[in-house]
This record gives sequence, C-alpha cells and structure tokens, in this order.
Amino acid sequence: MELNVTAADLSALATDVIVVGIFEGEKQLTGSAGELNLMTANQIKTHQADHEFDGKKLEVLTIHSPAHLAAKHLVVVGLGKKENFSAVVLRQSAAKAIQSARSLKAKHVAICLDNTLMGQLDASLASQMVTEGLLLGNYQFTRYKTTDKEKYAKRQIERAILIPSDVDVQSAIENGVLRGEAIATAILNARDIVNEPPSKIKPSHLAKAAQEIASLSKNIKATILDENALKKEGYTALLAVAAGSEEKPYLIHLHYKPVGTLTSVAFVGKGVTFDSGGLGIKPWNAMLNMKSDMAGGATVLGIFQALAELEALGQPIIAEVHGVIAATENMISGKAMRPDDVIETKNGKTIEVLHTDAEGRLILADALTYAGLQKPDQMVDFATLTGAAIAALGLDYSASMGNNEELLAAIETASRETGELVWRLPLPEAYKKYLESSVADLQNITPDREAPDAIYGGLFLQEFVGDRPWAHIDIAGPSMRKGDDNPVYPKGASGYGILLGLRLLELLTQK
Ligand code: BES
Ligand code: ZN
Ligand code: ZN
Repeated sequence: MELNVTAADLSALATDVIVVGIFEGEKQLTGSAGELNLMTANQIKTHQADHEFDGKKLEVLTIHSPAHLAAKHLVVVGLGKKENFSAVVLRQSAAKAIQSARSLKAKHVAICLDNTLMGQLDASLASQMVTEGLLLGNYQFTRYKTTDKEKYAKRQIERAILIPSDVDVQSAIENGVLRGEAIATAILNARDIVNEPPSKIKPSHLAKAAQEIASLSKNIKATILDENALKKEGYTALLAVAAGSEEKPYLIHLHYKPVGTLTSVAFVGKGVTFDSGGLGIKPWNAMLNMKSDMAGGATVLGIFQALAELEALGQPIIAEVHGVIAATENMISGKAMRPDDVIETKNGKTIEVLHTDAEGRLILADALTYAGLQKPDQMVDFATLTGAAIAALGLDYSASMGNNEELLAAIETASRETGELVWRLPLPEAYKKYLESSVADLQNITPDREAPDAIYGGLFLQEFVGDRPWAHIDIAGPSMRKGDDNPVYPKGASGYGILLGLRLLELLTQK
C-alpha cells in the first residue's frame, strides 16, 4: 500500500472511500471532517439521532454514495469516548477503517487527519499511529492461496492518502508516516516469517534473515554460531535440543551500536522453528501452530529491522542493542535427546531432562548465558514458553516475570503505551524447590502437579541470568491470533513484542 500526505478538497476528491473519525456522543464534525459539506454532516447526524451509530470505539458507519461528495463511500469510525482516547485507540481505528474499506473492495482511500485528534495527540504521533494501523490492519498472509487469488487481489488497497486538516503540520505528519511505515514494515516481515510453514522456515533461514537485517545498517553486525562453533564453545543445551533434527542449530547474535549510547539491552528470542515435543511427543492437535514456536526469535528480528529502518530515516534509537536467537527444531530421531539425559550447559549448571517438550527453557539457558557474556545493562527474553501462560491469562496477554522492579515497570509502561498487553506473574523464592533435581543441579520440569508451569519457566530461566536486571516475557498467547477481533492484529502471527520492545528501548534511553 502506497501512502501519501496531501492537502485536498474533500468534496471534490474522487476516491473510493473517505474515512473520518468521530468521538462518541459528539455532534459536531470538526477539523477537516468539518469541511465535508453540510448535507453529509447532516446525514451522519441522522444516524446518530436514530442511535444507529453513536461513535463507540471501533463502531463503523458506512454511507454509500454520500450526498455532494465525489467519493463512492464515506466510512465514519467511532473513536469512543474523548476522555479514553489514546494513540492505541487511534491505531486501532485506522486498522478498523482500512478493513472496512477493504470489504467495500476499495482501491483508493483517503483518511482525514482531524484537528480534534491533533488536539490530543501531536501531529507526528497521530500520523504514525494511523500509518501503523493502516498497514498492520491491512495485512493478510495469502502466499499459498491459489484458488482465491483473485478474491484477495481484489481486496488489496493500493493507495491511501492522509489529508491533514492543517497545512502547518504537514511535515510533522510526513515524519510520523515515515516512522510508522518503518515500524510496520518490520512487524509485517516478522509476521510473514512466523506464518510461513515450518518446511520453509528452518533455523538456517532465521540466521539468513538476521544477516539480511545486518546488511541494512553499518551499525548492525551479525555473528552466527554454527554447529561447530556451538560444540567448540560448549552450548550443549542448544545442541541437545537440536540433536533429533536433520536441521543444524544456530545461535544468532545481532549487535546494534550507534554512537552516543548510554545504555545497553539484550533481547533474547526462542527460535524453535517447529516443536513436535521430541520423544515426549505432543498429541496432533497440540502440535498445530507449533511453527510459531520461533515467534520470540521473529520479534527480535523485527526489533532489529525497525532499528535499521529508523536509523535510515535519520530518526535512530540511541541504545546499544544485542539480539540473541537460539534457533533449532525440536524433532524426533534415533539421535534425539531422551528423558533422563543430563545436559551440561554453557554456564556450567547441569540440567536433568524430564520432559523433551520443555525445550524452550533449555535453549534459552544457553542463549541467556551467551547474552550475559555481552555484558548488557539489562536483558529481556521473548519466548512462546508455556501453554500455562495461556491458561492463566488467555490469548491477549503475555506473562512477564523478572528480577528487577524498574525493568518490569518500564515494560508495563511500554505495554500501556503500545497496547501490547502484559501481565506480571511472581517469581517466589519458595517455589524454587520445584527446580531441584535428584541427579543434576536443575530438572527441566517438575512432576509435581500443583506447581505452576509458567512461573516454573521463569524461575528456571532466572538460574541463567546471574544478578543482571532481566525480564522474561512468555508470549505463548499473544504471538498468534485466533480470530479477527483486534483489527491491528488480524488472524495468524501478530508480530507481538516488536512495538513493546521498541518502546521499552525508548523508555530506557530517556531515563
Ligand atoms: N512451545 C511450547 C509452549 C506453547 C504451547 C506455545 C502452546 C504456544 C502454545 C513449549 O515448548 C512446551 O511444549 N511447553 C510445555 C511445558 C511443559 C512440558 C512443562 C507446555 O506448555 O505444555
Ligand atoms: Zn515444547
Ligand atoms: Zn516450544
């Protein structure tokens, strides 16, 4: 979708759809929407008077062949109550609008960036949110749809123009659009990588994707540890999980270091390109969607792509960032890791394997050790670690855990500001008893039925971070969307964590 910022005479604009936003209960159309001629404004008001349309959040009123407008349709999106309005609501509204336009088979869309929005958000942030909403909401993964090709092609919006109500802010709006495009592009790529079938995205593809991202910026370096390097350096836990697969594992390290950094962060991602469960094989229905067990890795790739794109725009984030992805498959063969095996990890701690399906914590143990060796000021891991995180919080929230109040609080602020929902779980000292193994330092699961799996995962990972500030974000729920209930995140891979991670970086550099 091509995006432009242009001043235009709304009534004369020959486009498929004009989009305007309206707050709940507001009677007055203001800003550029106010220029819509009186007849149209009155038409909207009639619907309001009949309570067919109140302007509730994400409510849509479509007026076909609107009187005295050259456009084919007018889409009015409810912005909800003015006092609840935020950047997140604006992003959702734009996503909803583009989906409404798509169902009208529109090709060209014009969006009014109304003065009343600017009153609450600055012009650049408002246009960034609209851009992100348009691009993220318009996403569909159709690569393997052959019979419906035409149907999907017909529904592609080719061009959207943003119409500022105030020409003074044109350049601020253009900046926001570029920023929104940079970030959304990174998220859409991450979605594609997760949505691709597991026969297409192997550990080596994640390594290649990292190298491609590194080539976008002279400030990003990629280091790839292959099987030989992993053996030589003692990354035994990652090798143990990979043993049952024909595919070689990789430890992927991206490093972004622009001039003038005051803080450093390591993002660590679980990159299991398919999780069969190993010898402790999953039942067929639990194995569905296990291509998405590398979503944490895709989040890390997405953050780096956005860093590169923002830098190219001249709007870089000034923080030193490491991205570490443990990439492997969890499969079965005569060489597969067995229950009862004991692994000597890179940091020296030994792990008794009780369940081959609790593989994420094994590879992350080594990945966190590697990340710690880079001496970052703080570490954050993204991992589709446990079904229990879904049982606890459902599909909308990730579960955050960690050892540092300030970092966890910053993640919660980033969550509120981006709309990527996070809820904190405790890491109680008293539950560490579950980690104790009879033959090794740690066991990878506990057979105790009453022990909480999601928290166990956090406590286990904590053993590999030393006393460095660290947070674990279990994204098993929000990494894949089951339905189309959130317009910003259509069904399938969400790219969850990229907005959160980028905002976190900004917050950590501001302090
Ligand atoms: N990749 C799964 C976790 C998962 C489950 C992600 C559902 C997304 C949706 C992970 O490797 C796993 O299998 N975890 C086990 C841990 C258990 C054996 C303690 C689980 O959650 O069942
Ligand atoms: Zn598993
Ligand atoms: Zn897994």
